[in-house]
Amino acid sequence: MDRSEARKFFSNQVVMAPMATGGNLPYRRLCRQFGAVRTCSEMILAHKLVKGGERPLLRHHPDETDFGVQITGKRPEIMAEAAVIAVEHGAKFIDLNFGCPIDLIVRYGSGAAMLKRPGPLAAIVAAVRQVVDVPLSVKLRLGYTEDKINCVKIAGLVEDAGADAVSIHGRTRAQRYRKNARWDHIDEVAQAVEIPVIGNGDLLTPWDLRRRRSETAVSSFLVARGALIKPWIFKEFLEDAPWDPSVAERWAILRQFVDFGSEHFGDDEKGMGRVRRFFLWHWDFWYRHRPWTEADFQKQHPDSLIQARFDDVEGEADLVLLASPEPEDHERIWRRVLDRDYPTV
Ligand SMILES: Cc1cc2nc3c(=O)[nH]c(=O)nc-3n(C[C@H](O)[C@H](O)[C@H](O)COP(=O)(O)O)c2cc1C
Repeated sequence: MDRSEARKFFSNQVVMAPMATGGNLPYRRLCRQFGAVRTCSEMILAHKLVKGGERPLLRHHPDETDFGVQITGKRPEIMAEAAVIAVEHGAKFIDLNFGCPIDLIVRYGSGAAMLKRPGPLAAIVAAVRQVVDVPLSVKLRLGYTEDKINCVKIAGLVEDAGADAVSIHGRTRAQRYRKNARWDHIDEVAQAVEIPVIGNGDLLTPWDLRRRRSETAVSSFLVARGALIKPWIFKEFLEDAPWDPSVAERWAILRQFVDFGSEHFGDDEKGMGRVRRFFLWHWDFWYRHRPWTEADFQKQHPDSLIQARFDDVEGEADLVLLASPEPEDHERIWRRVLDRDYPTV
């Protein structure tokens, strides 16, 4: 593949970030319907993939036309082998994860631990580049700790090693999710390299996106928690306008997720058990949706609304129910979603 074509593949778009659990196949399909054209697998451990494990994570739906696979690891030859397996299973692009902050991964020397070893990190990129022709992106954080921010340097090495794009989550490993994402650092990377830079961190409303588009040289964006709170965020970003679905529309979206889930996992007892577990997991995010306005955005500025407290909701009973953080309410919603006679209008 022509490398300029591969760069184009990553340019000028808003895409769904790779997410463990949250990026399950039924949920990706739901986001795809709302305009998330490019979707990605959950993070896959390269050493497990080459031993024949992790195969379910390679599965994707035919609707996912631009589905890619994210792998993590610390050994170039294993990462290269894993990338080849992913492409053989239909990955349209490969993403290398050097940002995962989870203790288990970092202790093993993978994910964000690689930020401390720029040379070996670039060697992994070069090894993968040698064996796959599909578009190749690399996901980084700003650095390991705040006093060791090295994303500009690493992005340059990654570019030289043959990556077609670099995604930057604007926090360090040590920060996890504390503090705002630092878009000034992401912008520095965008100014420094030729390959597309995909900015990531705290995008929740059309105004967040507008602000980052106008204040930085970044033209592609990754959305994670925003997409978990509202799968229709991609529609909002495409149309550059907020969308507050009615209660009836929200019930329909929930039913759609359950339908996609039962199609994927099966509609027998075991399959529906899994759909239910995912459905309840998603409520940690779904209940946080509020019909935020531009005035709310301005009031919260310069923090993103994703850092805001979630106000109580008043109004019709179902609206209040859908905003509840209580697990027993989420169970009630699950039962209602299964009850096809439950009125939605
Ligand atoms: C539930 C969850 C799972 C995640 N799993 C992954 C993962 O597997 N691979 C990865 O690179 N990042 C993962 N991330 C990080 C996101 O891709 C993203 O970099 C981060 O959440 C910042 O973006 P946001 O502010 O839009 O949430 C995960 C985030 C969340 C919330």
